[in-house]
Amino acid sequence: MPGSLDLSTISRYQEEIMPERPEVLREMEARARQERFPIVGPAVGQLLYVLTRLSRARRVFELGSGFGYSTAWFAMGVRDNGGGEVMHVVWDEALSNSARGYLGRLGLDGIVQYRVGEAVSELSKTSGTFEIIFNDINKKGYPASFPVIKSRLAAGGLLIVDNMLWSGRVLDPAADDPDTAGVRELTRTVFADPGFASVLLPLRDGVMLALRR
Ligand SMILES: C[S@@+](CC[C@H](N)C(=O)[O-])C[C@H]1O[C@@H](n2cnc3c(N)ncnc32)[C@H](O)[C@@H]1O
Repeated sequence: MPGSLDLSTISRYQEEIMPERPEVLREMEARARQERFPIVGPAVGQLLYVLTRLSRARRVFELGSGFGYSTAWFAMGVRDNGGGEVMHVVWDEALSNSARGYLGRLGLDGIVQYRVGEAVSELSKTSGTFEIIFNDINKKGYPASFPVIKSRLAAGGLLIVDNMLWSGRVLDPAADDPDTAGVRELTRTVFADPGFASVLLPLRDGVMLALRR
């Protein structure tokens, strides 16, 4: 019944129709469910793969990589583009080691590089530019990340940011915690920036795509 459709029903449907994927990805999804760890999930993962292929990206920087689930989708895209590098960056060493295990088993070792540290600071220390930058750090850190991201995103490059609906809290006038405020501020800033063509996709928890003109 169209009248009863809500975002979580649509999200469940979008994940159910996802095709088979490597067993290691299934294992990572099961771990995320068990530990209630916030991975992007298969529908957004597939979006990341499609965007990587469409943009023919060879260099991707990920801020806030967890145990490497979203990294795997970018790295599969870069591999299928002919090779390159995907930076996996998280401040927790145990998660970084865990990601090495999964991504190695997926045969993506030659593509992924690992950094342990605060992601925005790691990006500022990295030379060169990236064709895709993916932001999934703590949400109160979103606004401060944008100037650094701008300094490292190639012309024609794509900024992708997860959790831009923040479980609907961005729409709730009573929600004024620092994370919700961070998501709102980044949304306003990026959409107002004439250097970007931006769109907010209502996929899972909201994915913002911002193409650098
Ligand atoms: C939402 S999870 C990432 C999930 C991952 N993108 C995926 O879909 O598989 C964010 C991870 O980044 C870490 N994190 C959050 N803010 C960070 C920051 N500023 N620098 C480095 N790591 C950060 C968190 O501890 C957590 O492990």
